[in-house]
Amino acid sequence: MKGLVLSGGKGTRLYPLTYTSAKQLIPVANKPVLFRVIEAIRDAGITDIGIVVGDTAEEIQRAVGRGGRWGVKITYIHQEAPLGLAHAVKISQDFLGDDRFVMFLGDNVIQGGISPLIAQFANSDHNSQIVLTRVDVPEQYGVAELDADGRIVRLIEKPKEPPSDLALVGIYMFDHHIFEAVNSITPSWRGELEITDAIQWLIEHGYFVSPYIHRGWWIDTGRPGDMLEANSLVLEELEPRIEGYVNRDSEVDSRVTIEKGAEIINSVVRGPAIIGEDTRIVNAYVGPFTSIYHHVHIENAEISRSIVLEYSQIRNLDHRIEDSLIGRHVVIHRSPIRPRAYKFTIGDHSHLGLLGNGG
Ligand code: G1P
Repeated sequence: MKGLVLSGGKGTRLYPLTYTSAKQLIPVANKPVLFRVIEAIRDAGITDIGIVVGDTAEEIQRAVGRGGRWGVKITYIHQEAPLGLAHAVKISQDFLGDDRFVMFLGDNVIQGGISPLIAQFANSDHNSQIVLTRVDVPEQYGVAELDADGRIVRLIEKPKEPPSDLALVGIYMFDHHIFEAVNSITPSWRGELEITDAIQWLIEHGYFVSPYIHRGWWIDTGRPGDMLEANSLVLEELEPRIEGYVNRDSEVDSRVTIEKGAEIINSVVRGPAIIGEDTRIVNAYVGPFTSIYHHVHIENAEISRSIVLEYSQIRNLDHRIEDSLIGRHVVIHRSPIRPRAYKFTIGDHSHLGLLGNGG
């Protein structure tokens, strides 16, 4: 089998972070989501992986390389515009050939990896297997309608009146018949060739598509809230390790990972949390569900349930930072210079939640 990872798209819902960086490279528990996807595919025994890239191709290629570090071979496939998931399959035909393959959206995180799914599909004669999970707002996804025997009756992309709460997770398995489907469908109202329509086409033309109901958690990290949620869930499952330095006056609990070269000085870190390489935490508090990436400096400040990216500095704050997604090279500090006022240099599409009177 082969793997196909989709890593195009602009990530507009994650502005401003994605002005400067591909959304698939934002780390969850200090590892880019895309790396987690590649590892999940590799762990299922697949080593020949194509990555479909768009505007952020260069950055993705720089970060991922040829795959040697994971023991896989990566082929890049250029998509000239984000014309849909089925379009991505279409342009990958040369790479995929007649092989069965798994397609994985590069911004999805799933509990427990995909080895059981792949094993089930690889040993079957099904033409396709889709992964479904129960969600609260099915209108935002592709939705499946099953019959009493659990067979798929119909798939609809973002239905106004969803026939069930079973959403299509961004992981799909196909054989070569999918190429007939993607070449037969037409663009949807949003101007994209929808993979959901292509699978519906397979069903209507007598091909067998089997559903697999996933029961653990699954997160499409499209929005800041989803990133923080995925970060919390992955941190909870992380095997803790201490490779950095913790001084005697610090308190670090058992669910904390401290990466190489990091220093914790006179601080309290409560897990689950991760402190990245060469980061310094001084006279500070880092609370649960927080990932601090590499080369960050936090001093005289408190932070919890947040993600802080590389080379940022947080110093001398009176109030705790919570539920925040902080980009690269960001500086947040209490300014000693009069007048006593908020002083911002903030990019487009930034969000700030300030304390009001009473707060
Ligand atoms: C895509 C698919 C949708 C699926 C979702 C999973 O949606 O079209 O069927 O449920 O991924 O993340 P999009 O992210 O393009 O809106």
